[in-house]
Amino acid sequence: MKTCPHQTTAAGTPVTDNQNSQSAGPRGPLLMQDYQLMEKMAHFNRERMPERVVHAKGAGAHGTLTITGDLSRYTCAKLFAKVGNSCEMFARFSTVAGEMGSADTARDPRGFALKFYTEEGNWDLVGNNTPVFFVRDPLKFSDFIHSQKRDPATGLRDNTMQWDFWSLSPESLHQVTTLFSDRGIPASLRHMNGYSSHTYSLWNAAGERHWVKWHFKTLQGNKTLSNEEAAAIAGRDLDHHRRDLHAAIARGEFPKWQVQIQIMPERDADTYRIHPFDLTKVWPHRDYPPMDVGIMELKRNPRNYFAEVEQAAFEPGNMPPGMGASPDKMLQARLLSYPDAHRYRIGINYAALPINKPHCPISTYHRDGQSRFDGNGGGAVNYQPNSFGGPVEASSVKEPPLRLQGDAGRYDHHDGNDDYQQAGDLFRLMSGGQQAQLLGNLAEALRPVPRFIQLRQLLQFYRADAAYGSGVAQRLGIALDEVIGKAA
Ligand code: HEM
Repeated sequence: MKTCPHQTTAAGTPVTDNQNSQSAGPRGPLLMQDYQLMEKMAHFNRERMPERVVHAKGAGAHGTLTITGDLSRYTCAKLFAKVGNSCEMFARFSTVAGEMGSADTARDPRGFALKFYTEEGNWDLVGNNTPVFFVRDPLKFSDFIHSQKRDPATGLRDNTMQWDFWSLSPESLHQVTTLFSDRGIPASLRHMNGYSSHTYSLWNAAGERHWVKWHFKTLQGNKTLSNEEAAAIAGRDLDHHRRDLHAAIARGEFPKWQVQIQIMPERDADTYRIHPFDLTKVWPHRDYPPMDVGIMELKRNPRNYFAEVEQAAFEPGNMPPGMGASPDKMLQARLLSYPDAHRYRIGINYAALPINKPHCPISTYHRDGQSRFDGNGGGAVNYQPNSFGGPVEASSVKEPPLRLQGDAGRYDHHDGNDDYQQAGDLFRLMSGGQQAQLLGNLAEALRPVPRFIQLRQLLQFYRADAAYGSGVAQRLGIALDEVIGKAA
């Protein structure tokens, strides 16, 4: 489209004066007929759309994914058909609990949201920088988030709310241990790993399914911040991580991640000692060794932050043929939650925005709706089946049926699901220095919390490992007997 040499209104009529409003005489009052002033004020009043209810503060960049490992026997997705294939992608990294203007260096998991524009449609992997999560049933998600956000009375973030929830939700212990470890505050968005966290699936043309977990290992090396370093940076620059990512890419230092995958044959899920669809668990690498399958590289900064980073809409349900979900209850809920959030936050036609639009042809029967800014399908037939050459189903790429069993009901997610083993394993895996950092970080966060909540949480640590419980207790000046007595 031709660019206009002069300023115009949204309707394209020339703006003759952008400094002086129309007034009755040089000293005012103003005239209602000043359409340009009205339009300018009205547009400004509507500049904000709601921020994301979680993960509001973020940074994004464009890049590529290049396939380096052969996955063709596991999936018919064309992206993985041969080594050397590549696609364009967009990444958005974020903190979880803070608002749009909050500090980048908070102790918080980091969102690791990726949109791969494959030739068969978008593949979105909406993960975190940690391999596990705080809860395993989506019914608890909004309560968990409320406990991390602001106190309804004071409007302040509140340690008591956080530890009240965590101490009453022992399934959170593995993720809490990760969060308060030395890995809990990344030094930059370039120096952290990403994980699908959930189990997903791959399926092939023969109808075979494998369960998979995705890993993105930073090739810049893992670097982290201590509480003191993070606080000092936040005092100087709330946008430290956003600035660092932008500056590195502008300098031509393109961050890269090694993409890896853990693969489990479908039937193993029936007998594996660890619940394979429990988001609070990892699959130990000795059981399912990660395999290198690609390199992700970020190479281009957004040209417009709002259009690209704010309007980006990721959804775990976006998967080309050959890739699928799993019975993980959290993932199942997220399949619905994200598009629902986008319809509210951006509007029904969010998928047609340039940042979200697939880089392959699209052919749907969706029409109309607010902010329809493309051709709306023109005069093409808008119902199906039809006799006028409209698009038809691609039945050759049907996901194989999934075996299900069991009676419908509400099952206690703690039954048969150990909450402590992997949290304890993580603690035992740490060096003495890492353990000391973890214990110190936890004691600092628990100090302002009422004693009965401290005791309840100390018992959770103790159940994972006696040294874990006693280490935090000692730093809080609490006798271990009191903690254990609580259990009796
Ligand atoms: C953002 C819901 C669990 C990663 C969001 C948003 C919602 C949401 C509503 C805002 C979306 C938007 O406005 O664009 C949920 C629910 C969950 C859940 C209901 C559990 C039942 C998780 C888990 C992960 C995760 C387990 C990581 C493994 C993210 C990321 C974003 C996000 C990375 C930001 C995406 C972006 O950059 O736009 N979540 N979430 N969430 N969530 Fe979740």
